[in-house]
Amino acid sequence: MSKIENNNLSQLKCVVGTNSWGGSLYGKLLRGESVDESIIKEAFDSARANDLAVFDLAQDYGFGQAQKMIGRFGCGDVLISSKFTPTARYKAGQVKKSFEKDLADFGRSYVDIYWLHLPNDICENLSEIIDLYHDGKIRHIGVSNFTLDECRLAKSILDASGIPLYGVQNHYSLLCRDWERNGLVDWCRANGISFWAWAVLEEGMLTNPKSKSKKSVMKLIFNRKKKKLKPLYELMESVGNQHNISIPQVAMSFCSSKGIVPICGCRKAYQVEQLYNAVNVKLSDAEIKMLEAEADRLNVTILGADVFRFAVRKR
Ligand SMILES: NC(=O)c1ccc[n+]([C@@H]2O[C@H](COP(=O)([O-])OP(=O)(O)OC[C@H]3O[C@@H](n4cnc5c(N)ncnc54)[C@H](OP(=O)(O)O)[C@@H]3O)[C@@H](O)[C@H]2O)c1
Repeated sequence: MSKIENNNLSQLKCVVGTNSWGGSLYGKLLRGESVDESIIKEAFDSARANDLAVFDLAQDYGFGQAQKMIGRFGCGDVLISSKFTPTARYKAGQVKKSFEKDLADFGRSYVDIYWLHLPNDICENLSEIIDLYHDGKIRHIGVSNFTLDECRLAKSILDASGIPLYGVQNHYSLLCRDWERNGLVDWCRANGISFWAWAVLEEGMLTNPKSKSKKSVMKLIFNRKKKKLKPLYELMESVGNQHNISIPQVAMSFCSSKGIVPICGCRKAYQVEQLYNAVNVKLSDAEIKMLEAEADRLNVTILGADVFRFAVRKR
C-alpha cells in the first residue's frame, strides 16, 4: 500500500491548484508570464514529497493542458481531485464518458475525490457519479459552487445511496466570506463535511502588493483594487511578522486556522513550500478577528462568492 493510501483525508490541510498549469499562451494571458513545464514539474515534485500531496484538477484547467501535464509527470502515487463540469443540458452517460477521458489523462484507474463542478441537473449527474463510486472508480464525492440548499439536496441524494458527501468546494478567502456568513461553512462542520476554499489568494491580489508583475487579464481587471487594500496588506504583513510568514501565507493560514482547506494555485516549487509551511501556522482568534474586521471595513470584492452562478440554469 502506498504512503498516500495510508493517509486519512480528514488530516488534509491544503491542496495544490492547477488552474494555471497551461501552455505558454494561457500563462501569458492569465498570469502575465508563461512558465515552462519543467518549472511546474518542480512544483509537482515538491508537493509529491509531502505525505498528503493533493492536486485539484478539471478538464478545462490550463486550456485543457493541466490534466494531460500531470499525467505526463506520473501521478500514480498522489491524491487526485477532479471534476465533472455540467455546462450543457444533461444527456445520459455524459459523466461516465467525461470521466473515462480523465482517467486516460491521468493514466489511472480511479480518482480520489470527484466533484460535481456546478449545480446543474444535480440528480441526474450525481446518479452517474454514484455508479462510478460503486464501481470503485471514485473514492470520495464532493460538490462545487453549490449553495446551502443545493448542498442539502446533494447530501440527501447521496444519503439515500449510503454514501457520505465528502466536501464542498466554493470560493472563499479573507476578502470573500459569504459562505461563512450564510451558514454553509457551519453546516459543513456540523455534518463532518470538508470545506475546500478555491482562490484563497484572490487570483494573486492577496500576494505581494509591491510586486511589479507583467500585464495579464487578471491584473488588468483587478490591479486597481490594490490601492484600496493597502491597510489590509499592512495588517497582514504585521500578523505575518509575528509568525515569520509572508502576506500570501497569512491568506492561506487564515483559512487553515479555521479548519478550511485552502486550494492555492502553485506553478513554482517555492509556492508549494510556502503553502505547506503556512498551513502549519495557527493564527490566534484575536489575529483572525483583526484581519476580518479590516477586510470588512475595506469592503473590497475581487471575484465574489458565487462567481459562476451565471452558468447555472434555472430549475
Ligand atoms: N471549483 C471551482 O470552481 C474553482 C474555480 C477556480 C479555481 N479553482 C481551484 O482553485 C485553485 C486556486 O485558484 P487560482 O489558481 O485561480 O488562483 P489563486 O490561488 O487565488 O491565485 C494564484 C496566483 O497567486 C500567485 N501565487 C501562488 N502562490 C504564491 C505565493 N506563495 N507567493 C506569491 N504569489 C503566489 C500565483 O502566481 P504565479 O503567477 O507565479 O502562478 C498566481 O498569480 C485553482 O488552481 C483551481 O485548482 C476551483
